Amino acid sequence: MALRNLVLEDDPLIRKHCRPVDEITPRILKLLDDMADTMYFENRGIGIAAPQVGVLRRVFIVDVGDDHGLIEFINPEITYKEGSQIGGEGCLSVPGKTCEVDRPQKIRVKALDRNGKEFELEAEDLLARCICHENDHLDGILFIDRSVDGKVYKIEDQDE
Ligand code: NI
Repeated sequence: MALRNLVLEDDPLIRKHCRPVDEITPRILKLLDDMADTMYFENRGIGIAAPQVGVLRRVFIVDVGDDHGLIEFINPEITYKEGSQIGGEGCLSVPGKTCEVDRPQKIRVKALDRNGKEFELEAEDLLARCICHENDHLDGILFIDRSVDGKVYKIEDQDE
């Protein structure tokens, strides 16, 4: 188990555009493993993107607690969006804050898995929201940039 340090919203790194992965090396596999450890630590995250641990590559993982379990995305591309859903979001890089964000209700995304094999996934509801949120990180976009009413709220008590 290896935790990586989180890059927070005031760090310029979180605003960078990430480059595609051109070869899935042991270093990328270690990155995926460490991102999962970091996301699951304290049970706080349902997704994390590589720039959140300071690696400017197009990689993210999600686990929204559904039947899919952990899904790893390398060089993801959202190929289809449908509908709209407004709901609250949070982010490991923006601790203690939340706001309402409008996301597609349904998406299709294609990406490479850790074996370099391309897959395509259809996602709805929370999974679609989470994938869109993580995909935004790869272009330096944070959920607070997309607040539907321009407001960002403090979460009063984060302790569980
Ligand atoms: Ni985030």
